[in-house]
Amino acid sequence: MYLQRRNRILRQSPAIRSLVAETILTPNDFIVPLFISEGENVKDEIASMPGYYRMSLDNTVKEVKELWSMGLKSVLLFIKCKDELKDNKGTEALNPKGLMQRSIRAVKEACPDMLVMTDVALDPFSSYGHDGIVEGSEIVNDATVEVLAQMSVSHAQAGADFVAPSDMMDGRIAAIREALEENDLHKTGIMSYSAKYASSFYGPFRDALDSAPGFGDKKTYQMDYSNRIEAVKETLMDVEEGADIVMVKPALAYLDIIREVKNAVSVPVSAYNISGEYAMIKAAAKMGWIDENKAILETLTAIKRAGADLIATYFAKDAVKLIS
Ligand code: PBG
Repeated sequence: MYLQRRNRILRQSPAIRSLVAETILTPNDFIVPLFISEGENVKDEIASMPGYYRMSLDNTVKEVKELWSMGLKSVLLFIKCKDELKDNKGTEALNPKGLMQRSIRAVKEACPDMLVMTDVALDPFSSYGHDGIVEGSEIVNDATVEVLAQMSVSHAQAGADFVAPSDMMDGRIAAIREALEENDLHKTGIMSYSAKYASSFYGPFRDALDSAPGFGDKKTYQMDYSNRIEAVKETLMDVEEGADIVMVKPALAYLDIIREVKNAVSVPVSAYNISGEYAMIKAAAKMGWIDENKAILETLTAIKRAGADLIATYFAKDAVKLIS
């Protein structure tokens, strides 16, 4: 048989495959989400996220040092608010001595070069488990945006490098940028969850923070998964309003959106490999149906190949071990 081109030539050994690989994961690609709770020496495994933990601040600080020593350079903080501190307006979110603010300070003190990003949304603080203020059965936009802007200032004052609004209210990026400027917080960046979809894959995260919506769903603010063009509109608006980094979330069922957004913007694009995506791999691996390590690397490489410059993932530590 005579063939002018033999494509298998470039696949015939590990050496040639690695030489021509288009997408290579590095520790610089990852953002590590951390779940923080009150207490001391707490390390609770999240039932629907085997191998992932909710930790008190002392253990979180140890974890952050370990992450840094592994070459991981960025953490995304989430806190579990005590039930008695929750209300409709997210009052506790603005407490300068709240768990989030204390966590930011402690992490920055223990590991000053670690980039600290913080979740900005009301759901962990909301008695309704919604990302915004509830009036009747509505999640109101403008009053929520005011709180999100104050929350961002509070996080920045505690030392956050980036605030990461995950709420999908309209106009929040502009309001947050303006509030940061007014408070002379010129160095604080915004990583916007700009195309965040109403997804069934957030379940394990809501278990971790006890933040499931008390009524209804999040479909009036998070995006409809039927839509692709809308993701570009949302993202371009966030860039216009001042987002430094944009995000597509979830990642795995939304690889087309990641690519679409990557082609449309000139800021870094992140993708969130979310809790349900983590749980699926863990569950299938536990059943012996897939090889966990191979599935992790394939998944993360695919997300990067789709166009993500950064990936928030619960697999960050596993991935670093696997690629080193
Ligand atoms: C809250 C928030 C959610 C996630 C990140 N920030 C849940 C939600 O919107 O209900 C999900 C992360 C994950 O599932 O890993 N605004």
